[in-house]
Amino acid sequence: MTAQEIVAQIKDLPPISEAALKLVTLLERAEANNDDVVQVLRQDAVLTAKLLRACNSPAFALEASVTSVDQAVLILGYTHVFQMTVAIAFSGTMVTRLPGYQIEANELWHHSVHAASAAETAVRVGIGMEVDPAIAFTVGLLHDIGKVALSRFLSPEAQLAVRNQVARGQPVVEAEREVLGTDHAEVGACLLRNWHLPCEIAEATANHHSPELQPTPRLSAVAHLADCLAHLTSGAPGWDAHALRGSDSVLRALSVNPTDLEHLMIAVAANHERSEHLMEVP
Ligand SMILES: [Fe+2]
Ligand SMILES: [Fe+2]
Repeated sequence: MTAQEIVAQIKDLPPISEAALKLVTLLERAEANNDDVVQVLRQDAVLTAKLLRACNSPAFALEASVTSVDQAVLILGYTHVFQMTVAIAFSGTMVTRLPGYQIEANELWHHSVHAASAAETAVRVGIGMEVDPAIAFTVGLLHDIGKVALSRFLSPEAQLAVRNQVARGQPVVEAEREVLGTDHAEVGACLLRNWHLPCEIAEATANHHSPELQPTPRLSAVAHLADCLAHLTSGAPGWDAHALRGSDSVLRALSVNPTDLEHLMIAVAANHERSEHLMEVP
């Protein structure tokens, strides 16, 4: 089966807020500003209500309650509002149990939030590549979304076949392709393209297990690094977690030496606490 065929067969994913999708597409426009963000969010009353509820949660301990999106952007800043909006929009799809990967409810979501926070931290701390922190956060959050769709095609027999291939040393995505005809990275990219998210984010999702590094590293290298950092600093769910292969060439391409990696892991672990509120978005 192809990634498109798999995605076409999945009819029951919760719909993603159009306003949140539009917010992510704004990342492609360098000139987008806070007013654009506010305008987009105003189009979705349900999303706005959830966002305001999240802003008024004890995590932010605000003295007065936030009652509008304008106020939320003003008080908490664009970064928090963007992250919460994207988290609220996609959590419904990703909190689910994935029997094909033996992932319990919430486990994929927690891994995704950790990867998002790791990607954002990495580009803020500084790696050999300039990336907008909001783009890094989004790709970290969505890199494994294809598992939500592909899990349903991993019957116990298919799982066994993939796991046998992995035990023989084959990378997970290659084993998935051999058994199912496609892999979770391709399926994820296909979902993101169907939602008209920026090509750069779909490409990074497609290649997060085998990033493009030549002539210069692309966003997929950041997704790969963030995935590895999330595994290293907070563990990871499912049977395929043990088969994750970190790539030395990605570290070299991003100019991350062993000392930098150590510092990066400390910074990522410290920042996990700050993103914990995203695990429980409404
Ligand atoms: Fe993956
Ligand atoms: Fe992952």
